[in-house]
Amino acid sequence: MRPAMALVHRVLYPDAIASLDEYLARIGGEGLEEAHRRSSEAIIDEIAASGLRGRGGAGFPTGTKWRTVLDYRSPQLPTTVVVNGAEGEPGTFKDRAILRADPYRVVEGALIAARAVGAEEIVFALKRSFETEVARLRTAIAEFFAAGLLRGVAASVFEGPGEYLYGEETALLEVLDGRFPFPRVAPPYRRGVIEVVEHEDDVVAKSGLPAHVDMAAREGESPAPPTLVDNIETIANVARILARGAAWFRTEGTPDSPGTIVCTVSGDTRHAGVGEVPMGTPLREIIELVGGGPRPGRTIKAVLPGVAQAFIPAAMLDTPASYESMAKIGSGLGSAGFIVFDDTADLAAVTAGVSRFLAVESCGQCVPCKADGLELADALARVCGDQAADHDVQEIRKRAGTVADRARCYLATQHQNVVTSLLQHFPEELEVHVRRSVDPAEPVLITETRDIDAGRAVIDLGYRDKQPDWTHEAAWSGKWPVELLGEHRAPQALDDQ
Ligand SMILES: Cc1cc2nc3c(=O)[nH]c(=O)nc-3n(C[C@H](O)[C@H](O)[C@H](O)COP(=O)(O)O)c2cc1C
Ligand code: SF4
Repeated sequence: MRPAMALVHRVLYPDAIASLDEYLARIGGEGLEEAHRRSSEAIIDEIAASGLRGRGGAGFPTGTKWRTVLDYRSPQLPTTVVVNGAEGEPGTFKDRAILRADPYRVVEGALIAARAVGAEEIVFALKRSFETEVARLRTAIAEFFAAGLLRGVAASVFEGPGEYLYGEETALLEVLDGRFPFPRVAPPYRRGVIEVVEHEDDVVAKSGLPAHVDMAAREGESPAPPTLVDNIETIANVARILARGAAWFRTEGTPDSPGTIVCTVSGDTRHAGVGEVPMGTPLREIIELVGGGPRPGRTIKAVLPGVAQAFIPAAMLDTPASYESMAKIGSGLGSAGFIVFDDTADLAAVTAGVSRFLAVESCGQCVPCKADGLELADALARVCGDQAADHDVQEIRKRAGTVADRARCYLATQHQNVVTSLLQHFPEELEVHVRRSVDPAEPVLITETRDIDAGRAVIDLGYRDKQPDWTHEAAWSGKWPVELLGEHRAPQALDDQ
């Protein structure tokens, strides 16, 4: 029997798998064999029965998504499977940990997904900067090919730009189609990878070349199929569900959030780390198990689950890490990247850093997201500085109320969630600055986690000088990415600046 508090190993093995032969001998291959014995519908029924939910952040039921993509397939063109390995959420390193340890289970899962939705092509969308993971995945694909296991499915690795929005699935499809990571208007079913028809009628872009907005249609109405986009960890769960069955998958987790979750813990803990736990494990235990608990002599003040959800105050640390329990306390599981802040943290400066990150990464297709977002970041930085004043706090309240108005994607709501939760749970963190009872502070640098090395999270220090137009020029041009990049450059240029 497992001890009360222990890591589990369903998708994240403690020791890395070195080759396809080792993978097939030790743990893999049976799921794909089983998938080839079954029809598309039977595969999807098993995934739906397992209750697997997308691990990219939203927790959408994977079986439902696969069924929708299958139902909307095109009679003329094959569907494509895109595996989202963009992993740009600050405080999150789980997809890269999975790929480093065992890319084979991700390839096997993607092949099963392709069989389920009738896809002939799989694209693994990573970032150009993820050199180790790109190499691991390419080797794994080559080994699957050499072993005859791809069975005619084309599989490739795409190296995308560093922008946070590249991980948003419609922006990711834009990049795969050769454009910038500007999210599309979210339709229920969408095209991607190879665009067939273009309509720009419902685009509300401020200016420049906007994201394209094509929707797939029901069979017979359109030649273009929808594209299946699933997160790396979601796909890593698939092969064993097919091999062992939905009931086995549900032996861990809660009825509404079955299975396990791979968590990243960083910030004010003894060490940073990535570890897998059953869904429903209390957050406090996760911080102990994966991060070693708070530093000696310190107590936890709050936890941020990435930059998408509300602060979780210390009083709520016993909340189970499941989609339903996290939602109940007004926060969310996100991609289970928990950034821990102890009693020494200045949460106003932390929020100023989150706000700057989200305002800079906003593409500017929706005016409130970029304009109010930048105003919010400025007001928070002013509150932390030596001129803090009451009217800055009023400005923060006002802009937090409007930043998500008419937003095309979830980034603006993320901004609202984090700032509103500071106002709700920690108003005193702003007041101490206005009353000048603490030292002025710079916004804390919040950005992508580049690595977890010897128990330390390595963040992207070069992010400090990224401008709101996504350049690293000495001064901001005053333009927004959609204006500046829309007309001129190729997506590949983004990383080279
Ligand atoms: C701003 C933003 C960034 C995102 N970044 C990622 C990411 O890096 N990786 C990811 O898998 N999903 C990311 N998502 C979620 C994706 O849009 C999408 O929900 C996910 O890829 C679907 O896969 P799943 O159903 O397996 O979770 C992001 C969403 C938003 C709004
Ligand atoms: S909500 Fe923000 S990031 Fe999303 S499309 Fe609109 S401007 Fe861009």
